[in-house]
Amino acid sequence: MYNIDDDISEINNRLKKDNISYKNKTILVTGGAGFLGSWVCDVLLSQGANVLCLDDFSSGLRENIQDFEDNPNFRFIMHDISLPIYFGKIHPHYASIPEITSIDIVMHMASRASPFEFRNSPISILKSNTFGTFNALGIANNHNATFFYSSTSEVYGNPPPEAVPTPETYYGYVNPIGPRSCYDEAKRCGEAYIMAYILEYNIDAHLIRIFNTYGPKIRSGNLFGRVVPNFIIQALHDEDITVFGDGKQTRSFTYIVDEIEGILRDVAIPNARGVVINIGNNIETSVLELAKKIIELTGSNSKIVHKKLPKDDPSRRKPVLKRAKKILNWEPKIKLKEGLKRTIDWFKKSEN
Ligand SMILES: NC(=O)c1ccc[n+]([C@@H]2O[C@H](COP(=O)([O-])OP(=O)(O)OC[C@H]3O[C@@H](n4cnc5c(N)ncnc54)[C@H](O)[C@@H]3O)[C@@H](O)[C@H]2O)c1
Repeated sequence: MYNIDDDISEINNRLKKDNISYKNKTILVTGGAGFLGSWVCDVLLSQGANVLCLDDFSSGLRENIQDFEDNPNFRFIMHDISLPIYFGKIHPHYASIPEITSIDIVMHMASRASPFEFRNSPISILKSNTFGTFNALGIANNHNATFFYSSTSEVYGNPPPEAVPTPETYYGYVNPIGPRSCYDEAKRCGEAYIMAYILEYNIDAHLIRIFNTYGPKIRSGNLFGRVVPNFIIQALHDEDITVFGDGKQTRSFTYIVDEIEGILRDVAIPNARGVVINIGNNIETSVLELAKKIIELTGSNSKIVHKKLPKDDPSRRKPVLKRAKKILNWEPKIKLKEGLKRTIDWFKKSEN
């Protein structure tokens, strides 16, 4: 049966091979109660770091962090990062945490990230990645801390066939006024903020572009869910599996263990400073294939039904991973079938 601790050990064993450790570091993780953020907190705590988890629970869950709440190295800060917050001093107008005087690393991961939320909460998404990135960079700059930003493959928009697989040097083909622009353009602006802080303040800033990641703790449901958890839940309940369009659009799905290893390598490796790096899987899978695989692995009686393809839905997603290999010594290792099995097991266990 699936056990999350085995996945945490797998990440730690891989990082240990290159002597990557966060022991005794004080790390602020914005969005720490979310899917990726809570995995990052888990690994950091397991290594003996002091974790300051900042979140407003807009798309995160208290249950993602409840196992850490008794850990003396963990502190939760309820705050919306699009508003300023000060550490180590009292600010007359803004939220202040004067007793935390030193921060080594700021990881800015706070942002709702599912296409359903692009429609329902576009302003909050824009603010988290623009004002939020500005505020998080300010904290890092004030504390001389390393900064990390979780950007996205969505900055590439809907690339033409000749730009797939997509290298980091591709500038993107993005609709600035489309239904996804609140996310795509806000992330592009977040990246620009980082380059500005490097130019003006010489900050130690790192950024990666994450491709679709899935795994235990990913949120499901109509308002927050993404394709993998939604298909799994539909399959476990023998409900129709809803595929948008003909399902021939592809994604490259990365299992959480691979993604978190990539993130924690990127933060630790000095040569990654100021270099944007794709972290994802380079094996393309069509959405239809994904639905069929999930039906097979769950032994479900679900039928596949098709719905209208949303506007600006990218037709292909596949990263070039040469930089990740060269700079981070990273490549994805877990095959889709294995990752799905672990995720399905976790969903079964948590439904029980
Ligand atoms: N999961 C993926 O496939 C994927 C792909 C590309 C990029 N990313 C990026 O990785 C990061 C984490 O994504 P995730 O999949 O864990 O999403 P998630 O929704 O599970 O987590 C985001 C967390 O940020 C919190 N949050 C949102 N806005 C906030 C704000 N203004 N102030 C404080 N907290 C706020 C939410 O409550 C949630 O806990 C995001 O920046 C996202 O854009 C994720």
